[in-house]
Amino acid sequence: MPPPAVRVGLLGCGVVATGFLRLLRERERLIRESVGAPLIVTRVAVRDPAKRRGADLSGVALEADPVAVAAATDVDLLIELAGGEAVFDALRTALERGVPVVTANKHLLSLRGEELERLAAASGTTIRYEASAGGGIPVLQALEHGLRTERFQLLVAILNGTTNYILSTMERDGRDFAEALDAARKLGFAESDPTLDLTGADTAEKLSILVRRAFRVSVPHASIPTEGIIGMEQEDLRQADRFGYTVKLLGIALRHSDGLDLRVHPAFIPKRYLLASVRDEFNGVYLRGEATGSMLFYGKGAGALPTAQAVLGDAVAAAREIVGGVRYPRAAPEAEPGKRLPLDEVRTKYYLRLIVEDRPGVLAQVAGCLGGSRVSVAQMFQAEGIRGEASITMLTHDARDRDVRDAVKGIAGLPAVRKAPRAVRIFDL
Ligand code: HSE
Repeated sequence: MPPPAVRVGLLGCGVVATGFLRLLRERERLIRESVGAPLIVTRVAVRDPAKRRGADLSGVALEADPVAVAAATDVDLLIELAGGEAVFDALRTALERGVPVVTANKHLLSLRGEELERLAAASGTTIRYEASAGGGIPVLQALEHGLRTERFQLLVAILNGTTNYILSTMERDGRDFAEALDAARKLGFAESDPTLDLTGADTAEKLSILVRRAFRVSVPHASIPTEGIIGMEQEDLRQADRFGYTVKLLGIALRHSDGLDLRVHPAFIPKRYLLASVRDEFNGVYLRGEATGSMLFYGKGAGALPTAQAVLGDAVAAAREIVGGVRYPRAAPEAEPGKRLPLDEVRTKYYLRLIVEDRPGVLAQVAGCLGGSRVSVAQMFQAEGIRGEASITMLTHDARDRDVRDAVKGIAGLPAVRKAPRAVRIFDL
């Protein structure tokens, strides 16, 4: 006999949870028909149960303790939208008793995702987290199901709506960095602490989640070399355009014969790339598989309703399994620490822009630093400036990343250099 209802325990009642409750109400019939039983929220854990909320929570037990919700016998499915590391115990409690979990907690997943997957596998249940990377884009479901047996060579992704919006509006509307950040904040894309967006940390967390599914490797986000977009100037975007590129903050996973190259950094990408058309708050995940070739997943990576729909999609999938009595084999998860290619050894082209004193021999000194580190210049442009300065823009040929960084350090130390080089990698395979 299928259960008369799938009883949901919800942790958190913020923006995404409110969106989820709204979709649950508005799509009630569709959900019931898809699952074979209604989804009913029986318990919600919130920090302050006495506080009034926008969402209609009549008939729902409000509690302060997330572990109590996870342990409650009238909870068949736990949905975690509270965020933070502290909810780990609640997730463990649910998984250990075989209750499936749906979570959007990218931070926790990137720190302890492997542990959570092991707990789920040990009890023959599931943990789903579509909303944690790429927001409303169903890329994790695709990797879990249709693409489960595909072997990927490459994943390149724009995973942060805030920084993509900033770069897009700087490029299109000529705004400077601070104005663009302010606009992104007003539109509600930025994290409460936008440092996570700007430093690339948010992208690294999401990349670590995606590579676990796509490459079956477990990589803590802190071990991914990460650079953000702080310091990017309008002039860099103009120069990118001059050379036929656009600037994006990328999460990259590239399989080489000698290891997996994982990194997060801003990059010049050719305008002909599909990812170049991913603008504003949109996200894009480009994958290249051995059998499938190129694929692009595109959509909204942030916002209450796109994220809530991803949560609902996972909840419906888990609820269908509950109703159908599906149990997963108690198996060890597939993720394993794979061999990594250190960033120092990655070969890449670079864009360099610096300001120097405009006098004889200075260009030769700059070229000397590059040549001394085995970095070869592919294109160069020099503009005469005011106050006896010159602005030099260079594109290099492929070089060892470590060598370019050494050369940049050397150039920055030259007495004739007035503004140290801005160095941005070019992603052009
Ligand atoms: N701050 C994130 C972004 C929200 O800008 O993409 C979604 O994770």
